[in-house]
Amino acid sequence: MGIQSFEKQVQYQTLVNGEWKDSSTGRWISIVSPSTQQTVGEIPAMTAEEAEAAIQGAVKGQKKWADFPVHERGRILLAWADRLVENVEPIAEMIMKEVGKKKSAARDEVIRTADLIRYNVEEGKRLHGEMMKGDSFYGGNAKKMAVIEKEPLGVVLAISPFNYPVNLSAAKIAPALICGNAVVLKPATQGAISALMMVEALHQVGLPEGVLNVVTGKGSEIGDYLVTHRSIDFISFTGGTQTGTDIAKKAKMIPLVLELGGKDPAIVLEDADLDLAANQIVSGAFSYSGQRCTAIKRVLVMDQVADELVLKIKEKVSQLSVGLPEDNADITPLIDSASADFVHGLILDALWKGAKLVIGNQREGNLIAPSVLDGVTKEMRVAWEEPFGPVLPIIRVHSEEEAVELANESEYGLQASIFTKNLDKAFLLAAKLEVGSVQLNGRTERGPDHFPFLGVKNSGMGVQGVRRSIESMTRDKVVVLNL
Ligand code: NAP
Ligand code: G3H
Repeated sequence: MGIQSFEKQVQYQTLVNGEWKDSSTGRWISIVSPSTQQTVGEIPAMTAEEAEAAIQGAVKGQKKWADFPVHERGRILLAWADRLVENVEPIAEMIMKEVGKKKSAARDEVIRTADLIRYNVEEGKRLHGEMMKGDSFYGGNAKKMAVIEKEPLGVVLAISPFNYPVNLSAAKIAPALICGNAVVLKPATQGAISALMMVEALHQVGLPEGVLNVVTGKGSEIGDYLVTHRSIDFISFTGGTQTGTDIAKKAKMIPLVLELGGKDPAIVLEDADLDLAANQIVSGAFSYSGQRCTAIKRVLVMDQVADELVLKIKEKVSQLSVGLPEDNADITPLIDSASADFVHGLILDALWKGAKLVIGNQREGNLIAPSVLDGVTKEMRVAWEEPFGPVLPIIRVHSEEEAVELANESEYGLQASIFTKNLDKAFLLAAKLEVGSVQLNGRTERGPDHFPFLGVKNSGMGVQGVRRSIESMTRDKVVVLNL
C-alpha cells in the first residue's frame, strides 16, 4: 500500500504485526464523506480473532522494541515526522474528505502532528531515572541505594476520536513508542482512513513489525474485546464522556487516561477588551464548526457589557463562510446527521424556552449555520449540554460570583477563559474555577501540545501533554543496592 494510492476509492487494509491485511471475513465498513455524501473508501470490520492477532503482534513486538536504544527509536520517529510533512497534501485531503475539516485546518493538523512527534523524541531522550540514598529516614542507611529507572508499561491501547484523526492518534502513539511501548490503535471509524495513512508513513520509515498495530471496526462491536483484554497494559482514550466512563468501568484494573467532553465557558468581565473577547470567542466557538473538545461552548458575560459584546460577536459570526471543506469554508457539515439533529434540537429547545436568536438557525442536511443565542437561562439544555457543533449560548450574569457559580455548576471541567484587563482579579477567579486550564484573555484550546492538558469532573482523568503523556506510559522500576 502506498500513500499515493489513497487518492482512489479503495478498500484500505490495516496493519497487523507488520503486515497489511484485508478483512478476513469480507466485512467492510463504508466511510462516507459528511460533505459530499460520497464513499471515500472502506475499512475492515475486524473480528475478535483479528484483534487478537493485533494484540499478540504488539506483545511480541514490544519486547524487541523496548531493547532498542532511545536514540534509535527517536531516529525512526523523526523519519516518521518528515514523512508526514512530505505527504501533507494527500493526508490532509483525506482528513478533509473523511471528517469534513476545511483544507487549511487539515494541513495544519498534519504539520502540528509532525511537530508533536519531534517534541516527543526530544522529551523521550531526557527521560532519566534517579538515584536515592537510604539515610534520609530515621534508622535509614546511607549504604542502601535505590536505582530508579523508567520502564515502559507494555502494550498501550490508543482509542482516538473523529475530530483530530491524525493528531489525537499520534498524540498517543508517539509518547508510547518513544519510551518503549507497543501500540494497538483503535481509530474512530470516521477518520480511520486518515489514521491508516499516518500509520503507513511510520511503517514506510522502518518501524519494526508488531510495534504498531491497527484495529478498525465499530467501537460498539470490537471495543469490549480490546478494553478488557489481559494483554493490554494501559488505555489512552479520547472521546465522549459516556464512552469514556463505560470503558473505565469495564477496564477495571487496567490503568487509563481519559480525555473527554467539555462545556468550556468564556467569562467576560466589565473591563474586558471587548474586541479581543469577541474575536477569541468566535474563533474558539466556531472553528471546525465547534467540533473541538476545547471549543468555547457558553459565554457568561456581565450585564453591563452584554449588549455591546453580543453585537460584536454577531458581526464576527456574520463574516464566517458557510459551505464545503473543499472550498475552505469556516463552517462545514457536521460529522453525521445524528449530530446535526442533536445540535438543531438544542437550538429549538432554547428558542422554545425563550432564548433570543442573534444569528443563525438555518440548516441544510448536516450543515448548520453558525448560531448564537442570547438570554439563555439555566432551564435550557444548551446551557449545560455539549453540542459539538456551531451553536453558542450567551448567559448574562450580574456578578463575578454568579459567573463562577454557573461555570462550576457544569458536570464538565475541561478549560475556561476569562476576559479582563485586571490580571490580579483574573488569577483570583481562575483559582476558583473547577477546570484543568484557565486561559486569560485568550480562547480555550489544547495547544501548544507540550502544555499539560487535563479535564476534571466529567472531562477526564489523568494528564496529557508531551511530557505528562510519556510519564503516564512509564512506571518506576526500583533496584536497591545494599552496599
Ligand atoms: P466517541 O463516540 O466517544 O468515540 C471515541 C472513540 O471511542 C472512537 O474511536 C470510537 O469508535 C470509540 N468507541 C466507541 N464505543 C466504544 C466502546 N464501547 N469501546 C471502545 N471504544 C469505543 O467520541 P467522538 O464522537 O469520536 O468524539 C467526540 C467527543 O470526544 C466529544 O465529546 C469531545 O468533547 C470528545 N473529545 C475530547 C477531547 C479531549 O481531549 N478532552 C478531544 C477530542 C474529542 P467508533 O468511531 O468506531 O465508534
Ligand atoms: O478536540 C479536542 C482537541 O484536543 C482540541 O485541540 O484545542 O487544539 O483544537 P485544539
